[in-house]
Amino acid sequence: MQEAAQRHTDIGVGPWTGAWPEGDTWDPELLREGDRRNVVDRYRYWRHEAIVADLDARRHDFHVAVENWGHDFNIGSVIRTANAMGANAFHIVGRRRWNRRGAMVTDRYQHEHHHPDAGSLATWAMQEGLALVGIDNLPGSLPIETYDLPRRCVLVFGQEGPGLSEPMRHVCDVVLHIEQFGSTRSVNAGAAAAIAMHAWVRRHVFDQQP
Ligand SMILES: C[S@@+](CC[C@H](N)C(=O)[O-])C[C@H]1O[C@@H](n2cnc3c(N)ncnc32)[C@H](O)[C@@H]1O
Repeated sequence: MQEAAQRHTDIGVGPWTGAWPEGDTWDPELLREGDRRNVVDRYRYWRHEAIVADLDARRHDFHVAVENWGHDFNIGSVIRTANAMGANAFHIVGRRRWNRRGAMVTDRYQHEHHHPDAGSLATWAMQEGLALVGIDNLPGSLPIETYDLPRRCVLVFGQEGPGLSEPMRHVCDVVLHIEQFGSTRSVNAGAAAAIAMHAWVRRHVFDQQP
């Protein structure tokens, strides 16, 4: 038990040694106490607002939306990956409250939007000039592996169990599936989201067809 506690305090960096750096970027409390947050090394000791502002300057053109009708525990994992992949913002469709546990506080560095239903998300996306790309293995869906993902889009994910709701399927411009080769009906929603976001990154950041 003591060992586990020790390991926990080892995460991150301790108090800043030497003369403190100058400027608004730095958080005096973190410099004094150490920085144990879940952030990449480049952001160590940065103020929260400074990190968000820096991310804002280089967020990608894709958004992520997740349907939230039953407090799916996978949402947190999707949101964490959205942070890692530089999603422009994330959108919760349905219930406003969502299970933040798996997000590991990464949601605090992102912009969160809420839409009460699929229609509201569709209206917002149309106003923003974003395509709605459903991600689910449904009859009629196309393989993401060979589809040319639009740069400006919202990748929309369904929930464990039902998948994308009927109204959401209806408003999506296209629904794409990740090709599977085994016996399971589907992969975990968090895993599917990671694959889909990475397909966008490969196509638009590295300029490669997925
Ligand atoms: C459990 S799955 C949905 C159920 C699935 N449509 C079925 O027939 O059982 C939950 C969510 O994970 C994602 N997902 C899981 N497997 C996928 C796949 N092979 N391709 C695309 N999305 C997938 C989708 O966003 C989906 O809405």
